[in-house]
Amino acid sequence: MSCTHKAIIAIDGPAGAGKSTTARRVAERLGYLYIDTGAMYRAVTLAALRAGIPLDEEHIAQLLPQVRIELRPSPHGQRTFLNGEDVTDALRLPEVTRWVSLVSSFRRVRSFLVEEQRRLGRQGGVVMDGRDIGTVVFPEADVKIFLTASLAVRARRRLQELRSYGVTDITEHELAAELQRRDELDSQRAESPLRCAPDAIVIDTTELTIEEQTERVLQFVRQKLCNRMP
Ligand code: DC
Repeated sequence: MSCTHKAIIAIDGPAGAGKSTTARRVAERLGYLYIDTGAMYRAVTLAALRAGIPLDEEHIAQLLPQVRIELRPSPHGQRTFLNGEDVTDALRLPEVTRWVSLVSSFRRVRSFLVEEQRRLGRQGGVVMDGRDIGTVVFPEADVKIFLTASLAVRARRRLQELRSYGVTDITEHELAAELQRRDELDSQRAESPLRCAPDAIVIDTTELTIEEQTERVLQFVRQKLCNRMP
């Protein structure tokens, strides 16, 4: 494998571990496409909430043929479109966050999105982040990273992120409880639970800055793709 090989880089881990920011930066540095799969599960959740249907597998499965998700790069990062509408900001609403773990536990939702993710990543030259990228979506990914961080640090990061979206009516304590609940749901579900692939490199980001975590990931990518230390 050469340094110019268009690799598939999988970044998994729990919410708030820094996956999306790191993945976006790694993609920028490599000139790769960044694919945020959490945004895709959020888009299906938003579509179901807007449709006002019961949030069970049967009803959501019926809605899926009318759900068209596009990820488009922009100067302000990746934007997510649901049936042609830019819903990037709406995907971060607490209501979507509250229901997304349930919606993403449904087998038919997962197979619908996994197929789409494989189609988007097949050509390589992608950094994809999520919960099951290295285990289910691309078990043959060239580089697999598993990012973790302490619950307290993840809650603080989420608080800052939400503040930047203008959400002010949630405390750090409430966020920690929400993250813990999502961690449990995401790692205990029957379908593709969050778990670390045996061949993934684990990076604990509790004490790291975004720049440091980006550098570490790039180091592993270079080692793996160029067969030498950077
Ligand atoms: O990364 P995020 O917080 O935007 O993800 C939202 C939810 O989507 C998360 O609680 C679990 C689910 N998810 C998943 O099940 N599989 C993925 N590959 C990505 C996200």
